[in-house]
Amino acid sequence: MKIAVVGATGLVGTVMLKVLEERNFPLTELIPVASEKSVGKEITFKGKPFKVVNMETAIAMKPDVALFSAGGSTSLKYAPLFAEAGTTVIDNSSAWRMDPSKKLIVPEVNAYELSIDDKIIANPNCSTIQMVVALKPLHDKYRIKRVVVSTYQSVTGTGVKAVEQMMNERQGITDGAMAYPYQIDLNVIPQIDVFEANGYTKEEMKMIKETRKIMGDESIRVTATTVRIPVMGGHSESVNIEFENDFDVADVKDLMAKTPGIILEDDIDNLKYPMPKDAHEKDEVFVGRIRRDESMPNTLNMWIVADNLRKGAATNAVQIAEFLLQKELI
Ligand code: A2P
Repeated sequence: MKIAVVGATGLVGTVMLKVLEERNFPLTELIPVASEKSVGKEITFKGKPFKVVNMETAIAMKPDVALFSAGGSTSLKYAPLFAEAGTTVIDNSSAWRMDPSKKLIVPEVNAYELSIDDKIIANPNCSTIQMVVALKPLHDKYRIKRVVVSTYQSVTGTGVKAVEQMMNERQGITDGAMAYPYQIDLNVIPQIDVFEANGYTKEEMKMIKETRKIMGDESIRVTATTVRIPVMGGHSESVNIEFENDFDVADVKDLMAKTPGIILEDDIDNLKYPMPKDAHEKDEVFVGRIRRDESMPNTLNMWIVADNLRKGAATNAVQIAEFLLQKELI
């Protein structure tokens, strides 16, 4: 199994390499790919050095799988070229997510949709991934009518420059890198990505559209407010869910606890609930604060946390590759 990691020098690419290593992915050859300026740089994988190559060299090496995290425009241009060479591309950018001819996959939710003909597979938005892992079993059991989500998102979702901005501000440096239009440390910014004509941000619209596509149900109503906070380690979400059918809170907790990929952390007597500090570098989705919304019938409140660079990006992509391998779809 020849694996290319495209964007190997970036924040998500680095985590992809770490996850492949940790999960002992059965690869026989690793091809780290980045832009021309990084060609020849060495990265270490399982204690061995590997030289970064450019796109053309990587395509000529005909990898079996390419894990892409090098931005939307790079993906639009190069993913089809890899696919033509016979490579299965798993793409972390938003380039292909809403393309009706491409599958948008969270393995716990809809891996069954994948076939041997899928040569470009889209990895969803980080905030969407962690939410649908929790929503799917609830939808199957109680039928979701509407979801209202507010996010509290880590600066790591913006990249290295954003982490640098926050750390600089923490030390009183105000003329350094600026990834956001405002100070992020000691602040909260209710804008993630650009604004669209309807007043929502692109991130909010991603959560709305991607949730329906992954769940395979256009009738689910979703509304979102996405917010950047000065935190690292993971994204948090306050999620309000209205169901067609009534539920028992204890059953919901039980269902969450039994769902693969979810860790239930819900013990208010002992002040146990999910926090990004604890989700950091974990592959699971953490769920807690499960309680009835007393203002609406058949409605539930919950709190969902996951490491946005792991389950929200790298881990989900590697899990898709693992599924393809296990089902002999590559
Ligand atoms: P490089 O480090 O050489 O710029 P991040 O999102 O954390 O900034 O990372 C983006 C990743 O995508 C980096 O590894 C970057 O490589 C890579 N990248 C950006 N543009 C290209 C391109 N045109 N071809 C290949 N890799 C690219």
